[in-house]
Amino acid sequence: MQNSNVEIVTLSEPVTTWQSKVDDIEEPFSMIYDADEWGNPPLAQMNRFDTRMVLNEADRLMECNGRLSALDVGTGPGRIAMKLAQRDGARVTALDATRGYLELVAKTAQRIRLDPDSLTLVEAPIEEFTYEEGLGGPYDLITAIFGVLNHVENWQETLQAFYDNLNPGGSFVSSIYGTNEARVYRMRSNNELPYKPSLVQTRVDGGIRLGEGEEVLPAKFPSIREFRQALEEIGFEVEVIQGFLDFAACFPSETTDENIAEYKALIQAECPDLFERIESLQDPRVILIEVVEFEREYALEPNNLGDFAYVGFVARKRKL
Ligand SMILES: C[S@@+](CC[C@H](N)C(=O)[O-])C[C@H]1O[C@@H](n2cnc3c(N)ncnc32)[C@H](O)[C@@H]1O
Repeated sequence: MQNSNVEIVTLSEPVTTWQSKVDDIEEPFSMIYDADEWGNPPLAQMNRFDTRMVLNEADRLMECNGRLSALDVGTGPGRIAMKLAQRDGARVTALDATRGYLELVAKTAQRIRLDPDSLTLVEAPIEEFTYEEGLGGPYDLITAIFGVLNHVENWQETLQAFYDNLNPGGSFVSSIYGTNEARVYRMRSNNELPYKPSLVQTRVDGGIRLGEGEEVLPAKFPSIREFRQALEEIGFEVEVIQGFLDFAACFPSETTDENIAEYKALIQAECPDLFERIESLQDPRVILIEVVEFEREYALEPNNLGDFAYVGFVARKRKL
């Protein structure tokens, strides 16, 4: 346990119009991010499982190699990077295009007395990252969790750079937004939800709107098939594809009796098996957990992933 600061290495400000637009919207959001995301029950549930997806892979790599060098891209408040950095013997580079997030990570790292040698913070849009020596690469693990790559204009080139900068046998773990046809986005745009769901984003041309704001955060929405194909064409072996938040994404943001009754009615109409499991439950938190547990039972079935709000991938680079 240490007490000195984790430094932020600034490599590049946003360069393209797209990158500047993302940064302009993300910067103020970074100030409220922790309170907003952690107070959102379905996202907090998802974060249990996406973190587990990363840590399972990290532990496997550590067992094979006896070390872990990781790059966490779009680290945001650093929840994944810090979990990795707390693994004995891990060295983590956490990158984000938005300064505010890195300052938040530095503060948290100090608060939890993280060994500063285990974490390097880099400010740069990933497209401008040079993968130069001294920043931990080549890596055993690269992560980009929670829609990061949706906000990268040239995500295919970025995937190629990840592949090139992974050690043989290394892994890439990511989660991206589900497509416009995923249940919560589809129902929202068809005005089929009689209340506001917990997931704040709405889809518009060219990106997403967060909350009630009018500004459009630039984003692309590759389908599961497109993303998988891009990984495979580069040379990755795709080991796992899993969904996060199907009906759970439709959980009401305000859990009034009326909204919970509407939520149950929606589930009754769409999925009688799930309805049977929640029909008699009263406590909204217990209902949500039951829904999430139910969804885990089909979250790995390739034909059932289209309705999930987020989709996770574990892909590996072959050993030499
Ligand atoms: C939804 S947050 C995800 C945060 C974190 N990975 C997590 O799981 O909690 C998306 C993050 O991607 C970052 N980001 C967006 N575009 C980026 C880019 N081109 N390069 C690096 N980071 C980017 C944003 O600043 C933001 O922190």
